[in-house]
This record gives sequence, structure tokens and C-alpha cells, in this order.
Amino acid sequence: MQRIVVFISGRGSNLACLADACTSGLCAAKIIAVISDRHNIPGLDVALQKKLPIIVVDRKMYKTNELFEQAMVNYLEPLQPDWLVLAGFMRVLGTTFLSKFREKLVNIHPSLLPSFIGLDTHRRALLSGVRWHGATVHFVNENLDGGPIIAQAAVPVYLNDTVDNLAARVLKAEHRLLTGVMSFCVQGKIYLENNIVKYDQSLIGTAMSW
Ligand code: GRF
Repeated sequence: MQRIVVFISGRGSNLACLADACTSGLCAAKIIAVISDRHNIPGLDVALQKKLPIIVVDRKMYKTNELFEQAMVNYLEPLQPDWLVLAGFMRVLGTTFLSKFREKLVNIHPSLLPSFIGLDTHRRALLSGVRWHGATVHFVNENLDGGPIIAQAAVPVYLNDTVDNLAARVLKAEHRLLTGVMSFCVQGKIYLENNIVKYDQSLIGTAMSW
């Protein structure tokens, strides 16, 4: 059984969906730990409710990003994770972390990358006038939201959309996208090789969109 660690900083709805997919067998993996960079977030209640082990690595306790990342590496190495999923983890990870886990590390971002890197993506999408918006799952590199793209989910933008209802539509798509992608990753059907995303033969001819 593949071993997933999920990283959160907030609400934890992607964590909840992935946990349910692992429990139901849709995703053939076990979430062996949830790492949070802060205390008192709703996502930790989700982890508790799903009976998932929690590790809080409070960023405020470390003088530098390197020390913070090394502390997470120290927790992770004995756990021997197969996949690390950033699901609303509000930190940019650097070389200390990436040098250990680059090929196992995926992020979900609420936009169709490379559009709208960074924060506040739904507001920016509305202001820009794009007619399609969505979410992306990608491998992580040193650049903010910049690593190789694995798959995307697109949703229409309606003329009367508000930030909130667009965000809600994208979030639903995120949940489908993340569980779908991870179910392939844990089967070895998606992996990173020489910084290029590789797909199993059985996926060739599909759009990798949800
Ligand atoms: C999601 O929109 C995700 O794409 C972004 O942060 C949000 C986390 O939501 N990176 P949740 O904590 O999974 O509910």
C-alpha cells in the first residue's frame, strides 16, 4: 500500500476528499500523516475526524526556512512516504526539502497554470475576463506554482459569477482532480523522470483533465 503524507495550512477540504478516496479504495493508498505548519486550523479537525496522525511543524518555532524544512525532513524520513501532497499548504518549499522529496511532491493550485500563479486566483480570473478557470495538479520545483504540470480541471466562468461562487465551482473540480490524479500516481501510472511527467501507456490518449 502506497503511503501518502498531506500538507495543510487551512480548511482541509482537499485532505477530506483524499482521505475518503483512500478509505473507499478509489485511491489505493493510506494517508500516514498530516503535516500542518500551524496550530488551530480547521484542517486539523478534519484530520482528527478522519483519525489521521497529525504532525504540527509550527513555522514560528524556526528561525529560518531551512531549519523549518529540515525539521519536516526529519519527521518525514522515518515515515518513508511514497507521495507528499501539498493541499492548501501556504509555504514555498526550497532546496532543503526539494533535494529529498522532489519526485514525490505534488501541489494543487486553484487556477489553470501557468495563468494566475500565487494568491487570490479567483478574483484575478474574474477581473481578467477569462471564460475558463480551474485547478492544476503539478510536481513542485523551486518556482512558485512552477513545476511540471500533471493534470488540470477546467470550469466555465459565468458572466454573473462572484469570487465566492467561482471559488466554490473550482473547489468541487479540485476535489475530483486531486483524487483522480493521486489514484493514478499511487498505481505508478504517473511519475516524474528527469523533470518530465511520465504517464503509463494506459493513459496515453486521455486528456488528463477532470
Ligand atoms: C485550495 O484551493 C487549493 O487549491 C489551494 O488552497 C486551497 C486549499 O483548500 N492551494 P482546502 O484547505 O483543501 O479546503
